[in-house]
Amino acid sequence: MTINLNSAIERRATGSKKWSQYADDVLPMWVADMDFPVAPAIMNALQARLEHPLLGYAVAQDSLRETLVKHLWTAYAWRILPEDLVFLPGVEPGVNMALHALVPSGAGVALHTPNYSPLLNAPANWQLPRIDLPLRADTHGEYPTDIPALEHALENAGALLLSNPHNPLGKVFSGEELQLIGDACVRHDVLIISDEIHADILFDGRRHTPIASINPQIAARSVTLMSASKAWNIAGLKTAFAVVQNPQLRQRFNAGRLGLVDSVNALGLDATQAAYSEGADWLRKVMAYLQDNRDYLADAIRTRLPGIQMHLPHSTYLAWLDCSALALDNPQQFFLEHAKVALSAGTEFGDDCGQFVRLNFGCPRAMLEECLSRMERSLSTRG
Ligand SMILES: Cc1ncc(COP(=O)(O)O)c(C=O)c1O
Repeated sequence: MTINLNSAIERRATGSKKWSQYADDVLPMWVADMDFPVAPAIMNALQARLEHPLLGYAVAQDSLRETLVKHLWTAYAWRILPEDLVFLPGVEPGVNMALHALVPSGAGVALHTPNYSPLLNAPANWQLPRIDLPLRADTHGEYPTDIPALEHALENAGALLLSNPHNPLGKVFSGEELQLIGDACVRHDVLIISDEIHADILFDGRRHTPIASINPQIAARSVTLMSASKAWNIAGLKTAFAVVQNPQLRQRFNAGRLGLVDSVNALGLDATQAAYSEGADWLRKVMAYLQDNRDYLADAIRTRLPGIQMHLPHSTYLAWLDCSALALDNPQQFFLEHAKVALSAGTEFGDDCGQFVRLNFGCPRAMLEECLSRMERSLSTRG
């Protein structure tokens, strides 16, 4: 079966969060799901499962554990054991479970800013103080970690909450950088909670490195959260997994479920199995399409939307756009009202990000072009 990445699909009738949040004449370029149909291998697995008319509670089978062990080895040269895996209904619940179960009260949680809002706000859910580590672009458009600032922050921290690859900056942490970060956490006896949900969406031939794969000392203090949901576009199936290699940590992490974090979606388990075992070809094609979309967007911003600045994301289908030079009161509101384009507001990602918006380019090219034309028109007709 061929994948037609160019055809727009009608989603309003499906109860899609992305498509039902705004009025019908607004183009939704906000929440992180893609406007591409999922891989045929996943659809086949779901259809096969639905041949059986019982949908009771499900539990991950050995075959899924083996598939994930193999994927982590082949994709990232990360060797784990099947029992290191904990299945969850989402990465966000996993982050909160880890904070709740593993961070002593009063200890700080260090995280980079800007950051995905559910991560930014997670420490407050558990009355834990947040310690911000600002990421700033250098002259090459890279966002290097300030290691001395990190060392300083870790003195008062119980955990480091990492987003790698990073949402919204699309930063991919290098192995060397992760080693410095991980070694600092070992020295300061700080837990690492690493959200790696975007691990399979890397551009320009880059490879993802899980921080826990760096060395056994780092692995022993890490909870890594992953899911097929972003790369294979199945976020609505609410299935994710944690890798916790330290058995004591894993036992305490599991205790954090405590009636709050439920078991995993039955269909999500089958979809996850199909994604990691049969979804590689589909993902390769989607990645090539996304990379072209990213480059098309970057070119259009440079040539057609002066006043907006964008650094090339190295991962994710999310672009972080600096609108400061446009001098708008509220860029998200401006484009919503005048271009009928819904972007994510920068303020969701950090207090000082009011001049930024995040644009989701995981969509057919025609939809991206429509978004750009609308934004261009809205700026040219500005009074
Ligand atoms: C960095 C990051 N973490 C977590 C999530 C949400 O994950 P889940 O839906 O599995 O809770 C997202 C969704 O966009 C994300 O970008």
